Amino acid sequence: MLERTSESLIHQPDPVDAPWWRSAVIYQIYPRSFADSNGDGVGDLPAVTDRLPYLTALGVDAIWLSPFYVSPMADAGYDVTDYRDIDPLFGTLADADAMIARAHELGLRVIVDLVPNHTSNHHVWFEAALAAAPGSPERERYVFRDGKGPDGSEPPNNWKSNFGGSAWQRVDDGQWYLHLFDYHQPDLNWQNPEVRAEFHDIIRYWLDRGVDGFRVDVAHGLVKREGLPDFNGVNHDFGPEGDRLPTNTSPFWDQDGVHEIYAGWRTILDEYTAADPTHERMMCAEAWVQPAERMALYVRDDEFQQAFNFPFLATHWYADALHDVIELSLRSNDSVGAPTTWVLSNHDVVRHASRLGLPQDLPRPNGIGAADPQPDEALGLRRARAATTLMLALPGGAYLYQGEELGLPDSTELPDEVRQDPTFRFTKGVELGRDGCRVPIPWVKDAPSFGFGPSAEAWLPQPAAYGAYAVDQQDGVPGSTLELYRTLLRIRRERRLGNGGMEWLTGFDDDAVVALVNVAGSGERTTVVANLGATPVELPAEAGSVLVASGPLTEEGRLPTDTTVWLG
Ligand code: NOJ
Repeated sequence: MLERTSESLIHQPDPVDAPWWRSAVIYQIYPRSFADSNGDGVGDLPAVTDRLPYLTALGVDAIWLSPFYVSPMADAGYDVTDYRDIDPLFGTLADADAMIARAHELGLRVIVDLVPNHTSNHHVWFEAALAAAPGSPERERYVFRDGKGPDGSEPPNNWKSNFGGSAWQRVDDGQWYLHLFDYHQPDLNWQNPEVRAEFHDIIRYWLDRGVDGFRVDVAHGLVKREGLPDFNGVNHDFGPEGDRLPTNTSPFWDQDGVHEIYAGWRTILDEYTAADPTHERMMCAEAWVQPAERMALYVRDDEFQQAFNFPFLATHWYADALHDVIELSLRSNDSVGAPTTWVLSNHDVVRHASRLGLPQDLPRPNGIGAADPQPDEALGLRRARAATTLMLALPGGAYLYQGEELGLPDSTELPDEVRQDPTFRFTKGVELGRDGCRVPIPWVKDAPSFGFGPSAEAWLPQPAAYGAYAVDQQDGVPGSTLELYRTLLRIRRERRLGNGGMEWLTGFDDDAVVALVNVAGSGERTTVVANLGATPVELPAEAGSVLVASGPLTEEGRLPTDTTVWLG
């Protein structure tokens, strides 16, 4: 009944000596919400260090930490005043060193966040720019322009901030500065060699401290089109909800000039790797770019090693769409020899356990509030487990977001007055923003702040429902989401699935099935079947026995709806 679509693999296995990042599972720590050691309600680095053994037991290869640098926290640390020091909220440089050292002892690599598109408005450079005159070298580090209109009172162009409102802010002497995000985040001028040199130095600074790489914020935004022309595109939204125009039709995203910047950074990383080949350094692009051919340019062999696969994250729970995005991702990355890096959740999107519990024919929301239609929690969890089971069988790397291993949903009950995402303010509440996925995670059900820290404080209130998701409720419990993740990661490692080749499996009666075989270099075959349809499907007997499944099979051994299985 079942046939392979083609004799040839659509993706070839990696060689046995492939570098670590081609298949790594990287766990995203959002420091303010992971764990709190001092009871102030904000997570910190000493608590990360303490809980690293939890992550080795989970079975991940590396951690990526969202920014922990000195910051006024206008955008939760993505507004940096000192790229070479730690914000006191999170600890000290000694705490960072201790965390890096302990992670390495435990065999975990450490990726830090690099925020090059903008600084904080309290960065010394920006304060100097404000104190200096128009046209001064201090202003040349940022994007200052005169306004339009007879008295210059209109912004220099019509660009909109990503968080809502104009992308320009006027200063006392009448000039304007560009901010693609919050006005507390002035954009740097990447045409200025001083800016380029400064970031080379920052990269070396963290490599010297021992980090294994960087996640690069807004990697598609550093260079703006010459002359800063107005943008009259209907919208430049990304993914199925957007207009699907190439991202670089906008004058501020995905301009060709970004690539020489990254080639320069890659030279630095390669220099460190050459000096210590056992410690290969890498960088991953946060670049919301379409189409896939443009995205592939970022992962050519003299640029980023990885880029987040946001088209995969943005795909709704439909078998044909998932099939297509998986194939397109592998083909486009293969065209430049790069691994694909799968992701379902992060600190900027509604968690997939909530997202997949919403009607799939509606656009992906930017936050869910109490007044909005609520996700179906059980459905969302069931699909989230199935989606992750599919994702972790795919060849390439994968990123996990803290709490997803617990099946954690977003908080949908945050009152407006606790919301901190600038999006909420700048859109005047039209968009709720990202706070719902940033709520401190639960460790112990019957403890203050669910064991997030020693006190009851949590910088965002945790919903009562989080207790049932706490680590202590799932640890060692067969069938729990935590145990599912542990099993998936163990088998993935044993079978080298991240380095595998891939072919599609077709011939199921129901076309709401995504089925593939991960073919390891050794020839070992792992069959993966995800059923997104309404009726249970027969599994291919010749594929072997069940290695792991995201939920129970039917009594007849069929695969129920919204369930994924690995066979081998
Ligand atoms: C992307 C980050 O992930 C997000 O959290 C941040 O707000 C923007 N870049 C601006 O730095």
